Amino acid sequence: MVLPLLFAVSFISISLISPASTATNILTPAQNLTEGQTLVSFNKQFELGFFSPGNSSNSFLGIWYHNLPLTVVWVANKGNPVTGSFGQLTLTRNGGLLLYNHSTSIVWCVNLTVMANSPILELLDSGNLVIRDEETESNNYAWQSFDYLSDTLLPGMKLGWKLKTGLNRFMRSWKSNEDPSDGEFTYSIDPPESPQLVLRRGLQKQYRCGPWDGARLSGGYEFKENTVFKPIFNSNSDEVYYTFEVSDKSILSRLVVTRFGQIQYLTLPNHSQEWVMMVTLNRENCDRYGMCGTYGSCYNDDPNCRCLKGFKPKSPQDWSLIDWSGGCKRKHELNCSNGDGFVKYKGLKLPDNSVVWANYSHEECKVECLNNCSCMAYTIIDVHGNGRGCVVWLDELIDIRDFPSEGDEIYIRMARAEIGMYTLVFQFN
Ligand SMILES: *[C@@H]1O[C@H](CO)[C@@H](O)[C@H](O)[C@H]1NC(C)=O
Ligand SMILES: *[C@@H]1O[C@H](CO)[C@@H](O)[C@H](O)[C@H]1NC(C)=O
Ligand SMILES: *[C@@H]1O[C@H](CO)[C@@H](O)[C@H](O)[C@H]1NC(C)=O
Ligand SMILES: *[C@@H]1O[C@H](CO)[C@@H](O)[C@H](O)[C@H]1NC(C)=O
Ligand SMILES: *[C@@H]1O[C@H](CO)[C@@H](O)[C@H](O)[C@H]1NC(C)=O
Ligand SMILES: *[C@@H]1O[C@H](CO)[C@@H](O)[C@H](O)[C@H]1NC(C)=O
Ligand SMILES: *[C@@H]1O[C@H](CO)[C@@H](O)[C@H](O)[C@H]1NC(C)=O
Ligand SMILES: *[C@@H]1O[C@H](CO)[C@@H](O)[C@H](O)[C@H]1NC(C)=O
Repeated sequence: MVLPLLFAVSFISISLISPASTATNILTPAQNLTEGQTLVSFNKQFELGFFSPGNSSNSFLGIWYHNLPLTVVWVANKGNPVTGSFGQLTLTRNGGLLLYNHSTSIVWCVNLTVMANSPILELLDSGNLVIRDEETESNNYAWQSFDYLSDTLLPGMKLGWKLKTGLNRFMRSWKSNEDPSDGEFTYSIDPPESPQLVLRRGLQKQYRCGPWDGARLSGGYEFKENTVFKPIFNSNSDEVYYTFEVSDKSILSRLVVTRFGQIQYLTLPNHSQEWVMMVTLNRENCDRYGMCGTYGSCYNDDPNCRCLKGFKPKSPQDWSLIDWSGGCKRKHELNCSNGDGFVKYKGLKLPDNSVVWANYSHEECKVECLNNCSCMAYTIIDVHGNGRGCVVWLDELIDIRDFPSEGDEIYIRMARAEIGMYTLVFQFN
């Protein structure tokens, strides 16, 4: 098995020993971290230092697992390498962090808006590198590396939004095995009013799941809670984020966006030296974004694509040539002023571009959607964990997938003629 983040590198790991302090998990303003020196977290989980990926002669400040073949989980100076072996990290007296190249130019820095009084830099056992006040033990950090993700999400790391500052924490692939600078792929949470996880190549959507339905992300079923793994989605007035926890701390685990755009979940069993790839989230045909066009639903079957009931291929010819991207159109056109209604579909991955509307009951949600001619569908899901949530779609429905046993339900606006055909609201799956 080829693991993209395992690199053969040669470097000497010398723990930082300084006259001021014997702790190796902390850097104070009186010290410098230079090439060859590292910080090691208190329980020896993670290590911070300079590394050179692959055969690269460039060097980067990064965090990796202590005592394992080099697996880098975070990089500071991604696009601005230190050349040769002349990197130096310095914590300033007011809590800023400066990374020097040849002690002349600064290639990376942390510039705090609120200064710390007696700042220290600490590498935590979670893999988080933090700047905090020496006296205060609280989680109130002046800065933390967990706010600036690289290609890896560790347990407890948050993917998503800090609403007050507008900070958007997202994952980004490396450019190559030897270059941690920005690659093509990002994995992020869409804006808070439309919370879903999306993999993009540049600006183009590649793979998507969501919204959160109270227990899981719609469509992300292989990645649901089990005995060791617990996904968490949180949406409140301060934050909207996705994270995960692992119950057995002796099993290391991480989520990675590879430079080929795969989202992989890897684990390392207790005291093993080799990562095991548990699952690639986007691995099937039906995971390809918009595979079946508008109002088409994707099946793990032959053919992959079928139109939802009440819809037909826009271009029957393309459809028969298995070019499904054109999607489907209605058999009966909508006429908002003439009694449209809703038909319930079950067992689906919910479409793209949902909007969390309000704290409405089912009936209120239905009425609001019906009265708004641009509202194409709605569903009631527990986005905020309070048992009520009206989610609507204000555009054509795309990126739907069939999940008979685990999918969600959605009410799609249909013309009166279509509804008349089934007398009452009819259930499809
Ligand atoms: C740390 O680096 C700075 C800037 O290069 C230098 O002025 C200072 O003397 C260094 N401190 C130690 C303890 O080496
Ligand atoms: C480093 O270079 C050698 C010789 O060119 C090559 O065989 C090896 O695959 C390279 N290693 C990496 C990690 O790219
Ligand atoms: C690092 O320093 C070297 C030597 O001074 C210089 O050639 C290189 O451009 C510098 N790199 C950056 C990213 O500033
Ligand atoms: C940090 O911010 C201050 C104020 O915005 C600015 O004057 C200073 O140049 C910045 N330092 C670095 C290293 O970017
Ligand atoms: C992990 O391995 C160590 C040493 O082999 C052992 O002491 C510990 O109990 C193991 N932990 C678990 C959860 O299996
Ligand atoms: C919608 O229905 C009304 C009432 O039956 C009719 O007058 C109107 O022409 C219809 N509009 C369209 C676009 O079909
Ligand atoms: C949602 O509405 C219910 C009933 O009107 C109310 O009790 C609850 O506080 C509301 N929740 C939020 C988050 O607004
Ligand atoms: C329909 O809903 C959208 C989104 O809430 C809103 O922007 C638009 O103004 C509404 N249209 C009508 C006619 O109420």
